[in-house]
Amino acid sequence: MEWPSKLPLSGNTIFTVMSKMAQEYQAVNLGQGFPDYPMNSLLVERVSQAMKAGFNQYSPMAGSVKLREVLSKKIASLYKTIVNPVDQITIVPGATYGIYTALTTILKPGDEVIVFDPTYDSYIPNILANGAVAVPIPMNYPDYTINWALVEASVNINTKAIIINNPHNPTGAVLSKEDIAALRAIVHRHQLIIIADEVYEHIVFDKKEHESILKYPDLLERSYVIFSFGKVFDCTGWKLGYVVSSPDAMLPFRQLHQFLAFACNTPMQEALAAHLETPDHYLGLSDFMQQKKDYFQNLMAQTSFKPLYTGGSFFQCYSYAHLSDEKDTEFVQRLVKEYGVATIPLSPFYSNQEDRKVIRFCFAKENSTLEKAVERLKGV
Ligand SMILES: Cc1ncc(COP(=O)(O)O)c(C=O)c1O
Repeated sequence: MEWPSKLPLSGNTIFTVMSKMAQEYQAVNLGQGFPDYPMNSLLVERVSQAMKAGFNQYSPMAGSVKLREVLSKKIASLYKTIVNPVDQITIVPGATYGIYTALTTILKPGDEVIVFDPTYDSYIPNILANGAVAVPIPMNYPDYTINWALVEASVNINTKAIIINNPHNPTGAVLSKEDIAALRAIVHRHQLIIIADEVYEHIVFDKKEHESILKYPDLLERSYVIFSFGKVFDCTGWKLGYVVSSPDAMLPFRQLHQFLAFACNTPMQEALAAHLETPDHYLGLSDFMQQKKDYFQNLMAQTSFKPLYTGGSFFQCYSYAHLSDEKDTEFVQRLVKEYGVATIPLSPFYSNQEDRKVIRFCFAKENSTLEKAVERLKGV
């Protein structure tokens, strides 16, 4: 029997493919976006304490009350916006789930959603699984800025939403105040919903301010803004995040969420609630990651790769166009096999598989890991 599938053309993601190859060839893995250094031991301790204290049963559907309250305080202090923890924040099992649930809440078959090429790999499959249509807008190369006139021109009667990812994976691009102004004009003019993926909110370089949608109440009114604890506290394996929206938008989101995950891991929510009481636990992250990025860039200056600009996230892209004509998906395989370094090619992030001969490195790694990788890349 031919089994039905919502995504019949989907294979393994590029992260699965490259991580498997990295293991097989014992390569230094600068591919997938996760730290190889240990997470904060106090936070680990807090999880055991919560378990021992008996926080082992279902949490409330919207998430731990304590955690939502501390998040509301964090948002007020960082973005000067008052968000009610009761009906404007929901704890979810990872940002990926938050994005899928937000899209599934709002989309009907035939609706169109604007995404940017290159785009984080879950968005388009999430849109397709809802019978909706992804409308990719190419980001400008090589600075990965957005051509807002092109965005405006692609809006039509079926356009329901726009997905923004700031800071951006895979490129590290960040949105400026001018970008937000352009976005504002378009979403208000055409009554669009914004899905804002801000999982790298605390990793913005050069002392720039993160342009969160949460800073702008008129935009928050028409948005789901999505965060991940994994990227902030070096615990991507916990798969825990949260969604912020207006009360009107949160109601239908929760109507769906209560029949999908229903609730998230209780002891980890307890631990995070206690940990977030100390803002120093997340406010130093941009500086820490900037040091990693600068260290990596300085090392990479000894190789022939050409850096592109990154303004935030765990990632730095490099061009190898002057070194080889190989397709990026083939080039990264050769880097693993011949040089023992795993990276991620950018073409799988493009809806048309466009190959600009650019590859992505994750520098959220121990300095010794970065040194080892670059030593190997000097020969390329
Ligand atoms: C842009 C972006 N969104 C979402 C996610 C997924 O976050 P989570 O692990 O919380 O589902 C990632 C992880 O790499 C990401 O880079």
